[in-house]
Amino acid sequence: MTPHNNAKIGEIAKNVLMPGDPLRAKFIAETFLKNIKQVNSVRNMLAYTGTYKGKEITVMASGMGMPSIGIYSYELFKVYGVENIVRVGSAGAYVDKLDVYDVVLAESAWSQSTFAHTQNGYESDTTYPDKELNEKIIATAKKLGIPLHVEKIHSSDVFYTEPNVDSYKEHFAKHGCTCVEMESFALFHNAKVLGKKAACLLTISDSFTSHKVTTPEERQTAFTKMMEIALETFID
Ligand code: ADE
Repeated sequence: MTPHNNAKIGEIAKNVLMPGDPLRAKFIAETFLKNIKQVNSVRNMLAYTGTYKGKEITVMASGMGMPSIGIYSYELFKVYGVENIVRVGSAGAYVDKLDVYDVVLAESAWSQSTFAHTQNGYESDTTYPDKELNEKIIATAKKLGIPLHVEKIHSSDVFYTEPNVDSYKEHFAKHGCTCVEMESFALFHNAKVLGKKAACLLTISDSFTSHKVTTPEERQTAFTKMMEIALETFID
């Protein structure tokens, strides 16, 4: 149906949960959804549609980085009629107050990326999630008793930076960013451009200050709290 997605129109729900990793998408679908059907297989960017407490939901992977989530989220909004995308990803903490496994909701995404400027001439270095969707997520987390840090995040184009050019301390001091991931700036931009809604929940997987890390296996299965928040938000 698109060069990157072979789901048929109508096979993708209005609400999409979007992890980075295709195997995490499979895990979420198999763990939380009923009546699941795999609807995309192109490039193994797995997508599944099923039901959560009776409501239709799609889980689709975004891949890593802004070019990748930029393609998939644009097509979901524009071609498949998706209304809401909640990214569920991992992030590296820039500050002591965020520990591994803490759950973060992005209140803004600052980036050095040219994605938004290239896409439509957008001038700012910061994009924003949908306010109403964020408020719903905050209310759901409260109802579930899951502590949520609402934070300014950094969307970076580069995972491996040389120490002389990119100081995480500076990103916190100058821009207030308390953690880093690699996708939300583009997701929020696409949603805004297309009149749709997006938000981003993150689980801290590593820390620049304590140097704690989590393994890929832990990341695939242990980040269930943010998934429950997102799923319960969708059925509200
Ligand atoms: N996602 C999880 N940890 C990250 C890090 N350290 N940098 C960028 N993205 C991340």
